[in-house]
Amino acid sequence: MTKFENQLPVLHHLAIIMDGNGRWAKERGLPRVAGHQQGVKTLVETVEECLEQRIGFLTVFAFSSENWGRPQPEVETLMGLLVEFLAAQRTKMLERGIRLKVIGDLERLSAQVKQSLQQAIRETDAGDTLTLTLALSYGGRDEIVRAARRIACRVTAGEITAAEINASDFEKSLDTYGLPDPDLLIRTSGELRISNFLLWQLAYAELYFVDVYWPDFGPIELRAALESYRQRRRRFGLTAEQMTQEDVLSNNAS
Ligand code: FPP
Repeated sequence: MTKFENQLPVLHHLAIIMDGNGRWAKERGLPRVAGHQQGVKTLVETVEECLEQRIGFLTVFAFSSENWGRPQPEVETLMGLLVEFLAAQRTKMLERGIRLKVIGDLERLSAQVKQSLQQAIRETDAGDTLTLTLALSYGGRDEIVRAARRIACRVTAGEITAAEINASDFEKSLDTYGLPDPDLLIRTSGELRISNFLLWQLAYAELYFVDVYWPDFGPIELRAALESYRQRRRRFGLTAEQMTQEDVLSNNAS
């Protein structure tokens, strides 16, 4: 057995597309809102399990740029659930060292939602156990376009030349600056796509699709996903032989 085979891949950052709330509700003859309410409970349980599993970063797709096109009452329900979630989880976030972060085009959020988010972000800033990032009003292409604009402004201001732009500069201009790239992406509900989520950051993530609606996704399903991840052999574009080298292994673990 090679050293690499001995080395279990470390999971620093888990990303989740929480899909299937609407179908879960429909199958039970309930309004879609009931699916979203149950979805919030699943999110709370998932955060708990991430703490248990010592996962340092959890990023969830809570509201996409495209979700603004949903019926207005559903958009309002989701925003209301978000504000309730922040208020209900405040004490736990502070006690358990959970730091809240948000990515996306926040300009489109209402003043009330922005204020709740800003307060939670400020209050939890010192949290160092788990960084919970909510992708809100988020689209991967939109994030990349906004990053390109930021860099273009720096070029216009004469801070850097176009020829000097590199991947590291680009990463620093993304909303996710400061977060490691996700190691594992989970999508629930049986759909097999990434739907404009973290397009840049998922470049080398392992993908896990599960045929369970988000409200039914519990600790057992999460542990199964983590077990699947542990069986993966990550190569980051290199050969398996190269991945046996000590330096590559330590990069992988960092
Ligand atoms: C996808 O299900 C889920 C969403 C669009 C929203 C995700 C939101 C939550 C889990 C709860 C809200 C979270 C917070 C933090 C407030 P869908 O409605 O697209 O389901 P469908 O594909 O079955 O219709």
